Amino acid sequence: MRTLLIAGNWKMNPSTRSEAVALAEAVKAGVGPAADVHVVLCPPAVFLGAVDSVLEGSPIGLGGQNMHWEPAGAYTGELSGAMLVDVGCTHTILGHSERRHGLGETDSQVNAKLKAALAARLIPIVCLGETQEQRLREQTEAVLTTQLSGSLAGITPEEMAGTVLAYEPVWAIGTGLTATPDQAQSAQAFIRGWLAQQFGEATAARVVVQYGGSVKPENAAELLACPDIDGALVGGASLKANDFLAIVGAARDVTTRGG
Ligand code: PGA
Repeated sequence: MRTLLIAGNWKMNPSTRSEAVALAEAVKAGVGPAADVHVVLCPPAVFLGAVDSVLEGSPIGLGGQNMHWEPAGAYTGELSGAMLVDVGCTHTILGHSERRHGLGETDSQVNAKLKAALAARLIPIVCLGETQEQRLREQTEAVLTTQLSGSLAGITPEEMAGTVLAYEPVWAIGTGLTATPDQAQSAQAFIRGWLAQQFGEATAARVVVQYGGSVKPENAAELLACPDIDGALVGGASLKANDFLAIVGAARDVTTRGG
């Protein structure tokens, strides 16, 4: 049985350290001590240390939003996996569509980052997903296959089992358009089928595959009830503690029901 993972991707928000601390404190208080659902907060890098201090004593994990594939060196503006670990991170997001499409990040770069994250003992959250144009042209499965084979190349089944995937249709991110549970489930099942082919059924059954794209309190329950949706990568709604906590609550309800 996979434990659901709800991760908050704060992106380039909030603007100040005190707001970041207040948001993390509210989430910590609402989540409490139970670890029936895994929760991770991914604040901007400059707030990681402050949020790590807030999260002390809580089961909530801490994630970076990106990292470089090299361990150190002349890479202005970049962060290494070791730095993320040192500041308290347990996870890191890789290959988010805002980096793939906005900043030209490629599958082979995501793959190099994935290997560096695994070497640093971070749990990677690798993002995948098609654009609206690709969906309209019925290229969703072809795009996912290219992203999966490029981003996950050369890793072992054991490493795969410790890697989280996030299916995030680009057209649903920050737009208010959410994939219907059927659309999301069908893409997620396709991803799990690909994993089974490449890594074997037993490994595929262990991989946590999140859904992301306009997840909100109103739609979380029906999305999380889908058999191949193992949690959510939440952007906008993770900036409001109550909304994020309602999504965590929906994951708890699904878990309690054994769904
Ligand atoms: P959104 O973002 O929830 O604001 O659509 C999700 C994401 O980009 O991870």
